[in-house]
Amino acid sequence: MKIFVTQPIHQAGLDVLRRMYPDYRINSDERVLTRQELLEKVKGAAALLTLLTDKIDEGVLSAAGPQLKIVANMAVGFDNVDVKAATARGVMVANTPGVLTDATADHAWALLFAIARRVPESERYLRAGKFKGWGPLLFLGSDVTGRTLGIIGAGRIGSAMALKSRGFNMNVLYVSRSANLQIESEIGARRTGMEELMRQSDFVSLHVPLKPDTVHLIHAGSLRLMKKTACLINTGRGPLVDEAALAEALKNGVIAGAALDVFENEPAIYPELLKLENVVLTPHTASATIESRSKMAVMAAENLIAGLSGRKPPNLLNAEVWT
Ligand code: GLV
Repeated sequence: MKIFVTQPIHQAGLDVLRRMYPDYRINSDERVLTRQELLEKVKGAAALLTLLTDKIDEGVLSAAGPQLKIVANMAVGFDNVDVKAATARGVMVANTPGVLTDATADHAWALLFAIARRVPESERYLRAGKFKGWGPLLFLGSDVTGRTLGIIGAGRIGSAMALKSRGFNMNVLYVSRSANLQIESEIGARRTGMEELMRQSDFVSLHVPLKPDTVHLIHAGSLRLMKKTACLINTGRGPLVDEAALAEALKNGVIAGAALDVFENEPAIYPELLKLENVVLTPHTASATIESRSKMAVMAAENLIAGLSGRKPPNLLNAEVWT
């Protein structure tokens, strides 16, 4: 039975896989396979362990062949997998929720502080030898404590981000498909519409999945609603934000700053963003802690093994194929 892993993942996951399937195959280069390579490598596989950088669509599923049983995606987001096409073929798809919730919310906080207190910008200044002594006006940032945090998408990660605001005594607003009673009762978060959240928040943090209806959720019009002093944080998916509109807004002082971990056309970064000082950029590393990535790797391996062993994968996304 052929099992193919598209890139090296944390050893803990590979160990789990090896115990059950010592002959699993792996692309051992630390790089994303080209489309052509992927189509070639998946041929005859019964299971794929994939990453968010692998586009798993009908073409790849059909290149794998009818023996393919499961695609175990090592990510909580699964916009890279055409779940509908997989379901139509009776292929299970699984993801890795939960184990990266805190790591991702922690990173969103790191970004929030980095942009609020201008950490990367002032570090660049210091390293360039420009620091000539304490200055009363040097790198004035904005307060975090007591401000208003706007959470768009109050699922696992959005809720964790909201709950972590406790120490900073923030006023929390959120937009979500359904009411989140935990954040309402624990920190007094208030559910609003999108417009009110954009107008009132000092920090807006994105935590919705990427779907056709969330592409460019943040566009020129919504940025214009924000306070001139507000910052946008994105640890969700790049296409949630119209990057060209964001760069314009940052350049023209429509908003004060942005901190982004994800990009519209990863790994390409919209060139205008790179020229701006009031933007913090990290390379899609929100879940990149040793603890989180090792658990994600184990979870993906366990989903894969369950799927091949006739057990229901714990994180099966398309329950319809489970018979
Ligand atoms: C990371 O972006 C994930 O979806 O796990």
